[in-house]
Amino acid sequence: MSADKKSTMDYGLSTRDLSLNEALHSWYLKNGRHDLPWRKTNDPYQVYLSEIMLQQTQVRTVLERFYFPFLERFPTLKSVAEASEEELLKAWEGLGYYSRARNLHKTARITGGVLPKTAEELERLPGIGRSTARAIACFAFGEAQPILDANVRRILFRFFRRRRATEKELWRMAERLFDPTHPYEWNQAMMDLGAGLCLPKASHCDLCPLARECRGREAPQRYPAPKKKKEKPIRKCTILVHERAGRFALLRSEERFHGGLWQFPRSERASHAEVLGRVVQHYSHFTLDGEILNVDTLPDLFASTVRYFSVEEMEKLPMGGADRKVLQWVVGSEE
Ligand code: ADE
Repeated sequence: MSADKKSTMDYGLSTRDLSLNEALHSWYLKNGRHDLPWRKTNDPYQVYLSEIMLQQTQVRTVLERFYFPFLERFPTLKSVAEASEEELLKAWEGLGYYSRARNLHKTARITGGVLPKTAEELERLPGIGRSTARAIACFAFGEAQPILDANVRRILFRFFRRRRATEKELWRMAERLFDPTHPYEWNQAMMDLGAGLCLPKASHCDLCPLARECRGREAPQRYPAPKKKKEKPIRKCTILVHERAGRFALLRSEERFHGGLWQFPRSERASHAEVLGRVVQHYSHFTLDGEILNVDTLPDLFASTVRYFSVEEMEKLPMGGADRKVLQWVVGSEE
């Protein structure tokens, strides 16, 4: 069986529907989010930065709080390469998923501040997966390949009326629907459809340019099958606040998750220590439930790794959300 025949059977589009391409293209021209700043540039670094920030953070948050200040602080990928990882993490503070910042730094150094132009080469760099590589190659260099982010996935599941699909199948569906004559618009339009019309809990099919061919249109909410919700584990820990002459003990985290960020030492519960408070912080895979203790001495194991900082110095260090909350307790308890 020819490859084309097989995909016809799987996905039900016998020939590429040119009028559907046209419909999506003109919908994008009329309704697309053209004002997003990363759509008004083809500067590879700015496109790359936006795609990395948008991997795990909503457009609104990136737009309102992070994209412009970051570009002001690091206007070029060369400036990222010249900075320390700590400076990068500081500029990333609050965005979360800090491996993105560490990988951005690595990529800046590996490339010497000049990104390669093809998705194939981009995909070899740290922190750039297949879809992100294609998004950068398409938006900055005009490469014609579909992307496959969460929004595009949802549209494909519905369009092809699939409740489940493997990665390979999803990529094939994306290729099948892709419009290689308007790659930029196709990729941006799919993201806009997913963000505005084809939503996880609602579908505005009456406004959707793909609706007339969409096989899931009768019951879009059936596609894809809901994921089994995993209970998030709660990780209990004790966070130690140790003061010496107005300065507080911190160490640089070596966890994969928070690597490079400064944090208060964590430990088993110390006895007879004063409880300052409690901090609860939600992460993607677990919830941290930490009891904050004021301790007179630190366990020996921290002796060689901690350094002492004043509250003002701590403002300048990269720290995660939980430790910023601890700092608030510390400052509050001193007042
Ligand atoms: N999410 C990821 N990339 C995006 C883009 N270019 N525009 C809007 N949302 C996005």
